[in-house]
Amino acid sequence: MPLHPENEVTLNPSHNESILNIIDQADPSRRRFLKFAIGGTALSITAFPFSMQTAQAAPAPVGGIGFTQLAADAVPITDAVSVPPGYTARVFYSWGDPISGGSAFNPNVAMTEAEQLLRSGMHHDGMHFFPFPTVGAGGVSNDRGLLAINHEYTDEGILHNVTLLGAQTDAMTKASQAGHGVSIIEVRKVAGNWTVVRPSPFARRLTANTPMQFTGPAAGHPLLQTAADPTGTRVLGTANNCAHGHTPWGTYLTCEENFNGYFGSTTQVSQTGSAPNVVQPLPQNALNALESRYGISQNGFGYRWHQTDDRFDIRKERNESNRFGWVVEVDPFNPRDVPKKRTALGRFKHESAAVVVGADNSVVVYQGDDERNDYIYKFVCSGKFNPTNRAANRNLLDSGTLYVARFDANNTGVWLPLVLGQSGLTAANGWNDQGEIFVRTRQAADRAGATMMDRPEWIAVHPTTREVYCTLTNNNRRGTNPPSTINPNGTSTAGGARPPVDAANPRPDNRYGHIIRWRETANDVVATTFDWDIFVLAGDSLSANPDRQGNIVDSGAAGSSDFGAPDGLWFDKDGRLWVQTDQQGDGAGDWVNIGANTMSAMDPSNGTSYRFLTSPPNCEVTGVVSTPDGKTMWINIQHPGEDWGGSFTARSSWPDNGANGSTGLAVVTPAVKPRSSTVVITKNDGGVIGGPDVNQVS
Ligand code: FEO
Ligand code: CA
Ligand code: CA
Repeated sequence: MPLHPENEVTLNPSHNESILNIIDQADPSRRRFLKFAIGGTALSITAFPFSMQTAQAAPAPVGGIGFTQLAADAVPITDAVSVPPGYTARVFYSWGDPISGGSAFNPNVAMTEAEQLLRSGMHHDGMHFFPFPTVGAGGVSNDRGLLAINHEYTDEGILHNVTLLGAQTDAMTKASQAGHGVSIIEVRKVAGNWTVVRPSPFARRLTANTPMQFTGPAAGHPLLQTAADPTGTRVLGTANNCAHGHTPWGTYLTCEENFNGYFGSTTQVSQTGSAPNVVQPLPQNALNALESRYGISQNGFGYRWHQTDDRFDIRKERNESNRFGWVVEVDPFNPRDVPKKRTALGRFKHESAAVVVGADNSVVVYQGDDERNDYIYKFVCSGKFNPTNRAANRNLLDSGTLYVARFDANNTGVWLPLVLGQSGLTAANGWNDQGEIFVRTRQAADRAGATMMDRPEWIAVHPTTREVYCTLTNNNRRGTNPPSTINPNGTSTAGGARPPVDAANPRPDNRYGHIIRWRETANDVVATTFDWDIFVLAGDSLSANPDRQGNIVDSGAAGSSDFGAPDGLWFDKDGRLWVQTDQQGDGAGDWVNIGANTMSAMDPSNGTSYRFLTSPPNCEVTGVVSTPDGKTMWINIQHPGEDWGGSFTARSSWPDNGANGSTGLAVVTPAVKPRSSTVVITKNDGGVIGGPDVNQVS
């Protein structure tokens, strides 16, 4: 039986697997949850008395952390992905590589829209592996599946193959828009080596022009209506797809982060027009409070799409910017699935969307809004997960309650409902309907009195205890004098507040970031209160400034495991917490001792950290997932050599320098462009990534 009713492609060559089994097996974490809920005595809810619900509640990883950590990759930073002895890291899928067939990428020419639609987008970020079903033990394949990979943004110079950009053309805009979005590729292990399956009926690109649909409470809202779509229900494309999520019913969530950067105006726009409660109409030359709160500006981030595409001109199409900043759900197994922008999850600069299923099949989604002094959210679905009927789950994300977090000084917290009539969201305060709350989510959270956080990035949930961890990557706008908080009427500009430190964000000028964690009251995922503590303060132990040293527990000599700017965050099946970083990556200034960006494995029971991976210069390490058996891991290297000057390869020639194996580009000798890439990591003895050596296992 096909996996999806609309899918003509039969996944299972045996034709034996029922669709229900397939879906239930599609996500191994779901199976673990079921196992936990049914028979997990040691990890049952009652095993955690209240006194243990704060610090140190998480168990040590099953099998421990079994590799010897790498030394910091300080200047001169190695132009390669390095992993510990006994592991192999091989470049797997780079910007420009075909998704399903066709010629090898030619980096010596400008990318066109037509070519880009058939090739990997740029700047890989969040990612998930969807295993194919198999017959027999386990039910899911460790050798074959689909990889869904976000492409967050583009380097316009590298894309257009010019070191000095000329006038923006329509062709340039369309090529850039096609470089954004998502790749869905089929991957398979053949004769021990992982390959991209070409051709594949599943291969697909989502871009900034792919037709999508609004669903949920804000669909059709006047704030989502445009001249091209007076219904407010149809939208073209997704952009700035940063981190991601996945559901237990086997769909991918791609999250729109810094969408504001793609909008601009060819007419003069005042940056200061933030009158209270004003949404529209407005003087044409002033930003309204809604635009200002989301960082819309006249020039955007320099993409210049608005110069040739009117829908990105904020004064030609007033509401188009409201149609970005959402979580998009797509079925990777159905190449014709129309992606859905799920408005009930709120609109902000989404980082990841971590879906958790409670013991009673309640479904919640944790989300961070990555802006200095913005918030952490939780969405509670009205319906329950149905493990035996995939179709019944497909619109679960359309109805429920969105909450925003308040972290109190006594290590407890409250989820504040963003519901019309509650949390100050009244007509007297300018709130007229629930749909508007989802479009103007940041402003609603301002009114509710949420806690301003140090840039919430990824959220990861422990596979058995459901303890939640969130990276807070940095903040240079806290503790400054004089302090300023966000206006409750939502008129602050994006990132404009300068709050004092608080218990959950304790450092002024928090340049190294930290990881906070919480546990819902009674371990109930739908609880409206929680306990929290700070898992780790990142930092440089060798800094002379005590406020920058952090408290990372080294697995080697003092300072040997330091990192900063934690961003990507993921629990593997055994409970290892993988932390990826996004700092400047040049080993200069604050990073002389820490060096290149890293991925580390942490033991959540005691905070011990082990540096597993170092990266090429001036990149970000982001995106991590494994096969269900944990024996193959994929990670992404984003924007190697970024902020090159004069030459594309001024800072990095990875991956076409061959440092992590051949990229298959015969035309490239030497490398002419650095390329964002997915990397596949295996353990040479065939064991679990991060676990003990196979020959040490009895
Ligand atoms: Fe795209 Fe917040 O990282
Ligand atoms: Ca990120
Ligand atoms: Ca980041």
